[in-house]
Amino acid sequence: MFRRVLARFRIEFVTVLNPTSIQISPADRLRGILPDPEIAAISPIIEEIEELKLARNAAILAHNYMTPDIFHGVSDLRGDSLALARMAAETEADVIVVAGVHFMAETAKIANEEKTVLIPDTQAGCSLADAITGADVRLLKERYPGVPVVTYVNTSAEVKAESDICCTSGNAVQVVESLGVDRVIFLPDQYLGRWVATQTEIEIILWEGSCEVHERFTAEELRGYRNLNPGIQIIAHPECPPDVLQEADFVGSTAGMIDWVKHERPRQVVMVTECSMSDNVAAESPQTEFLRPCNLCPHMKRINLENIRDALRDMKNEVTIAPGIAGRAREAVERMLAVQV
Ligand code: 13P
Ligand code: SF4
Repeated sequence: MFRRVLARFRIEFVTVLNPTSIQISPADRLRGILPDPEIAAISPIIEEIEELKLARNAAILAHNYMTPDIFHGVSDLRGDSLALARMAAETEADVIVVAGVHFMAETAKIANEEKTVLIPDTQAGCSLADAITGADVRLLKERYPGVPVVTYVNTSAEVKAESDICCTSGNAVQVVESLGVDRVIFLPDQYLGRWVATQTEIEIILWEGSCEVHERFTAEELRGYRNLNPGIQIIAHPECPPDVLQEADFVGSTAGMIDWVKHERPRQVVMVTECSMSDNVAAESPQTEFLRPCNLCPHMKRINLENIRDALRDMKNEVTIAPGIAGRAREAVERMLAVQV
């Protein structure tokens, strides 16, 4: 079922104009998305961030999991990990603020070393990035000599530097198939790797990492939604366990899921992923009712308007990558960006 549905949808990147450049006030951008008293309370800090962006020639790149105040209120470009990497490589801004987690900011720096990249909270990590080290990858390469290493971008720059090519959930199948080999080592997400294995004939050697947010969903809870809401559509991120993905009508990256809702316009949907995303998409899809099992990513939720403002005002939390690592990590990221999706 996944292959059939996947084939019908191409991932599209979601981009927006810099709100400042088209002179839309915070209240106008957020009306109908947040309650009016909340908009009034956060408008001053949004104005402050807009002024800082102009003064620094900065762009805020926001992941789809950011809360609506960030996603709709201050971001200039937004999307999934793949879109953020591409946007970072192409932006004209001098300063990139990544409203996302640390590996996303590192990937932005790897993709565009000339730019100053800031992360509002340096502790915004990821359980997948913590699941593997560069030394682990070196050991795996000794164990499977000659087998290419495909590394999910949810990893440190050191791990990327040990890899042949990176991938995201939006291009993992295409990346694996681009290599023209019979088997690959796939790091570090066992569930994304298992899902890729259902989409290709290529043998996948797995590592046992997992996302602490997506592994909490269960097939049983999804069956419960279906039983109570006949006709509901279930769409899931491939970081979920296989029995959860079996219940899904569509599997895709965060951008893939957003596009699916916009194209399919389902009456009712459950987005089986971090729950801020439903808030962001609901604002743009009034025809759809979103049922919301709410698993939050504690790392993504470290980013807020205050620390975005502070990072820009004080130019702090700049992301740097050791020169011995940056060049090799860049090769793996650039190979990924060259793969057509
Ligand atoms: P996407 O690349 O699909 O946005 O996923 C990133 C992520 O961290 C999901 O948990
Ligand atoms: Fe990492 Fe999971 Fe959070 Fe995504 S949702 S950043 S994979 S911990």
